[in-house]
Amino acid sequence: MDDRAAKRLGMGIVGAGFVGPHHVDAVRRLGFVDIVAVAGSTEESGRRKAEQLGARRGYGDYEALINDPDVQVVHVATPNHLHYAVISAALAKGKHVVSDKPLAATAAESRKLVQQAKRANVVAAVTFNYRGNPLVQQARHAIAKGQIGTPTFLHGYYLQDWLLNDTDYSWRLDPEKGGASSALGDIGSHWCDLAQHITGLRITHVLGDIATVIPRRKKPRVVRDAFQTAAGVGDLETVDIRVDDLASVLVRFDNGAKGTFSAGQVCAGHKNDLVLEVCGSKASVCWRQEQQNELWIGRREKANEILQKDPSLMDAEVRSYAHLPAGHQEAWADAFCNVMRDIYGCIASGQRPEIFATFEDGYRANCIIEAILESAGQGGIWTKVEY
Ligand SMILES: NC(=O)c1ccc[n+]([C@@H]2O[C@H](COP(=O)([O-])OP(=O)(O)OC[C@H]3O[C@@H](n4cnc5c(N)ncnc54)[C@H](O)[C@@H]3O)[C@@H](O)[C@H]2O)c1
Repeated sequence: MDDRAAKRLGMGIVGAGFVGPHHVDAVRRLGFVDIVAVAGSTEESGRRKAEQLGARRGYGDYEALINDPDVQVVHVATPNHLHYAVISAALAKGKHVVSDKPLAATAAESRKLVQQAKRANVVAAVTFNYRGNPLVQQARHAIAKGQIGTPTFLHGYYLQDWLLNDTDYSWRLDPEKGGASSALGDIGSHWCDLAQHITGLRITHVLGDIATVIPRRKKPRVVRDAFQTAAGVGDLETVDIRVDDLASVLVRFDNGAKGTFSAGQVCAGHKNDLVLEVCGSKASVCWRQEQQNELWIGRREKANEILQKDPSLMDAEVRSYAHLPAGHQEAWADAFCNVMRDIYGCIASGQRPEIFATFEDGYRANCIIEAILESAGQGGIWTKVEY
């Protein structure tokens, strides 16, 4: 075996609906990772998805994939309720794990996974993927260098409209599969992670106001992947919805900064609209996922600026997150690949994580969401996040 072959890594993925194939695409672009196996919910779907994604083998259960000696890294992209069992089994076999968010359905489960991963001494990552955007890293670097001064106020939202109609349904709305929250857990968690990553601050207290805008929905009797409408699907049953599809949250950070954000899946016209603005004592920065190749910089003493994603204008330390020259748009999948590059760089070389979210970050995300739900459940009172 030559040096290059010796450094090759094999990955397998459990769950290949919406986001799973993006894990595979991102990893394939790294050039030194073999797509070994896909596990689906049945033998048939495992085989079919392996063929579609160009993986060598398809399995009908995750244990078989984890036991495959050619799989060194297990990716988890199943519905949330399965994360704990799959990750725990993978760690027990000493495999590296790349879990999509949330790390697990509850903070208690996530805490156990943090401890298990430490004992296993493997790389344990969670794909809070917006960290991988070049201009997110530019903003983070600028904040770290003190260019906006002390952060005093963080605000924004993460809004989508794919659950606007009562004919829209997803496993995310079933607490048995998605966990205790839909909008907050699914996308509000991204906002919280990004706010903390970009500033280096920690969320300490929250005050939540949550709502279920659509309390009854028409659920298809057949299982479907995410982000499909039930309209036109024949066999439907009406179900009560017990999780939030809209939430507004006040936040306090550990440096005394204040914050506010909303998360909603019922907001017409907003597709994947994540906005984060950080106001500091000298300047502000704002990044919007739907216009991710621009970073707004707000100033008082001179004109505001829009920094286009341009490697030659980015700080040298973060330039490697941009791969194309100015005017060539980079997007969601490229940022996802940046996160994978960082994770696999860590696996291959043992270097410390640069930007990716670890299991500790995944655990903290669970703690924040649970504190918001607790706050809202008590009528909206300030609640300390217990980590
Ligand atoms: N990072 C992101 O931006 C992002 C985006 C979307 C989803 N996610 C996360 O990824 C996960 C998957 O979400 P999705 O939107 O891809 O959902 P999805 O419903 O489209 O896909 C889930 C897949 O898992 C399969 N599955 C179900 N049970 C299984 C089992 N026992 N073994 C193997 N496969 C099984 C389903 O058949 C389906 O193909 C969720 O945890 C979600 O929160 C993250």
